Formats: sequence, structure tokens, C-alpha cells
Amino acid sequence: MNCDTLIRNANVLDGSGADAQLADVAIVGGRIASIGSPLPHRATNIIEAEGLALAPGFIDVHTHDDTSVIETPEMLPKISQGITTVIVGNCGISASPVRLKTGYPPDPMTLLGSRECFRYPAFADYLSALKDARPSVNVAVLIGHTSLRNNHLERLDRAATESEIAAMHAELASALSAGALGLSTGLAYANANAASTEEVLSLSAALIGANAIYTTHLRTETDAILDAMNEAFSIGRYAQSPVIISHLKCAGIDNWGRSQEVLHALEQARITQQIGCDCYPYAAGSSTLDLKQVDPRVRIEITWSAPYPEAAGRTLGEIASEWNVSHLDAARRLQPAGAIYHSIDEQDMRRILAHPATMIGSDGLPWDKHPHPRLWGTYPRVLGRYCREEKLFSLPQAIHKMTCMPAQRFGLAERGQIAEGYCADLVLFDADTIRDTATFADPIRTAEGIHSVWVNGTLSYTAQGLTASRSGRFLPRERTQWVQ
Ligand code: ZN
Ligand code: CU
Repeated sequence: MNCDTLIRNANVLDGSGADAQLADVAIVGGRIASIGSPLPHRATNIIEAEGLALAPGFIDVHTHDDTSVIETPEMLPKISQGITTVIVGNCGISASPVRLKTGYPPDPMTLLGSRECFRYPAFADYLSALKDARPSVNVAVLIGHTSLRNNHLERLDRAATESEIAAMHAELASALSAGALGLSTGLAYANANAASTEEVLSLSAALIGANAIYTTHLRTETDAILDAMNEAFSIGRYAQSPVIISHLKCAGIDNWGRSQEVLHALEQARITQQIGCDCYPYAAGSSTLDLKQVDPRVRIEITWSAPYPEAAGRTLGEIASEWNVSHLDAARRLQPAGAIYHSIDEQDMRRILAHPATMIGSDGLPWDKHPHPRLWGTYPRVLGRYCREEKLFSLPQAIHKMTCMPAQRFGLAERGQIAEGYCADLVLFDADTIRDTATFADPIRTAEGIHSVWVNGTLSYTAQGLTASRSGRFLPRERTQWVQ
């Protein structure tokens, strides 16, 4: 028998959470043709894995790569970590459908790039640009509530009217019928915070019967987090849809130590509803610079600033004392800007990361000048630091959180597992040496220990770098198979 690629003697972690098995894997026509030990196949390309780990390509469930998959289709920050699929459109902001008015894109849509990056008035425009760009990774798409508000409200500091909700609903329904995964919200942000629960409920009616998903950056991640979670669960019940809480955390020093309470609330709700969450492996968040989060007790690093580009990489504290003003005044002057907030407790983060409901998502911000290291380091950090060194979970469990669990929850059919007939999205890595090298001081660095990455059967990245073949595609929504 002939195959395109034969990977011999790999320690196969199939994504299900089962222990690794030494086996050969044969790829034919972009799919996994057979798994066995040994396989009798002849192949054009033979890879001697010599016991390296072979896993399904990682699925980054929480990204803001909406425009970078088109502007920088090599997607080096992601493919170099072993990521083969990104889910875009999180936190209420998607690059499409978007019709910008004047000036800057409304906060936090600035996270998706400058105004020239917003060229997709209809969802179909985005899909055709994606097809032309042919990024190195697969792309699945959520539709952002804030983006829809931008299209239909003349000001964003109020709730939408009934007719505006109807217009947003129609636009969401049309994107869902073209394969979007579901609706995302970012209710903590000023430009969505004025939306009432009723507004989101009415909009989420588009999800009913669509087998789609609701993801949310909660209305608050601080004191009132439990209320915000309850709001999210009520929207999921109304929309008859699974709920994913994005980047679950207890943010702010006054909120430290509450992860047990928060996870308990999550577990209680999971008894009657389909609920999951994602988490990045760092004790610091990052977004646009938000005055509400300025706290002199918290180390805040500037990731970009429109009026003061040279501030990127410096702390707010340094800048404030140099200017001889308060932290809050310095932050005001720097805006519009982005920031990293060291406002999460390491123990809380570990507890959430290790929870069986939790998937891995980078929340990387690809346009930041001095980005949070999660953009380049998330997956190798989970596998190196938190799995191998800290032993928060086993290697098969870690892989499960990055592959099979997200594929089933988001309805990405025939992805996320090493199984016959499945798409050949694969990553070969050294489980003994894999590690992130990106740091807060030096954040733009590829990880160590990734040997080869295949996307739809095409070798796309090796330890030597990109291969010049890009074969990612748009992944439309298929049936979700919810596994709690
Ligand atoms: Zn968010
Ligand atoms: Cu986000």
C-alpha cells in the first residue's frame, strides 16, 4: 500500500485522554488512513519519530486572529506552537460582519488591527478573503455581539432597541447559516456593557435550534463574577445552547483566592446545562488599557499606545513617575493603548487550568507591539511547565484539553483526534523538552521542542521553520457532541 506520509514509531496520544501507544500513522489525501504497529505502507515521505509524541494538532479555542489569518497567513506565532486550528471572533469582537464608521474602531475592536484591517462588511466577504489568503492554520469563526452593535447602533453606551436587535439577529442568523460557530459577547467592555441581559437574550434567540454555541467574556471577572456567570448560564438556557466562559479567572487583587467558589458554581450549573470554559497558563491578563483596572498595587505593562508608541514594553508605574502624574492620569494620556495586568493569583489560575471542564485557549493579541507572551507560548507552556514540571495533569489529559474536547464542543467534525478517517492535523513534539521561551520581557520567541506540524496532511512547520506550504481552511460549524 502507498501513502503520502508515513510517521513511524511515534508515541501516539490520540486526544481522547487515553495513554500513549507506540504506533505508525499513515496519511493519504489529507486524512489519517491507518494507525498500526508496524504499518506495511510505502510512502513518499517517511518520518522516523523515534518515540517522539504525536498528537492531534492543537485547537486554540480563544483567539483574536480574525485579521491576522488574512494579513499574516503564515501564522508563525500559532503554527510554531503546534496549533493547527484557531477559533476567531471571541470576546464580542469579530472582524466580520463589520461596517466601520469614522475614526478608530470601537474599543476593544482595536485588538483586531487598525481600521484598514476591517474590510468585511458581510460575513461572505470574510470567507472569500480567507479562501484567497489560505492561512497555514484552519479557521473557525464566532460572531461578535459588539461588532453587531457597531453595525446597527449609532452609539454604544446604551442598550439596543427592539428594531436594532432584530437587525442584529438577522445578521447573526445569516452568518450562522453560512457556517459560523455561534455568538460571542464581551459584556465587560464599555461598548457592550450597556447591553441589557434582555438584549443579549433576544439576540441569542438566533442560536435556538441552530446547534450553535454561546461564548462570553463575562460582564465582570471581579467582585460580582458569580452574578455574571449566572447571567451567562441564563442566556445558554434561553438559547438552548452550550456556554463557554472565556478565559475564566478571578481578576483583581481583592478577588484572589475565589477560584474554588467560582469552580463550584460552574460545577453546580454543569449538572443541568452544557457549560465549559477556557484558560491561558499565565497569572496575568491582557487587553486594551482599561481605566477601571488601573490599580497602583498591580504591575501593569503597556503593550502599545497610539499617542506614545515608545511606551510599549514599559510599566505604567515607570511612566507615571517619569511624567510626575498618577497612574490613572498616565493611563488616560496613553489611550488608546493596550496593557498586561498582573492581577491574577497563580494558585487560582492553576486550579482553573487543571479543572476537567477547562480547555486551553491562548487569548493571544497578534497586533500588540509588545504582546503578552501567551501569543507565542501558551501550548508549550501548558505541556512543559504545567504538565511535565508541575504535574498539574497527565500528558494525555493536557492533550485532551487542547484537541478532542474543543473539537467536540465547538462542532469541528473529524478533527481533534488521531483516528482513521479523521483530518490529518498533527503535531510531533518532544514531551521531555517542549517549553515556551517567550517571556514578559522578551515575548516574541518561538517555543522549543516542536518537531513537525501537519495541517490537512501538509507538512507546514518543522523545527527549521515554516515549510512554505499553507493548507488551512475555513471550518464550518458541524454537529456538536457535548461531553462534559
Ligand atoms: Zn476577553
Ligand atoms: Cu479574548
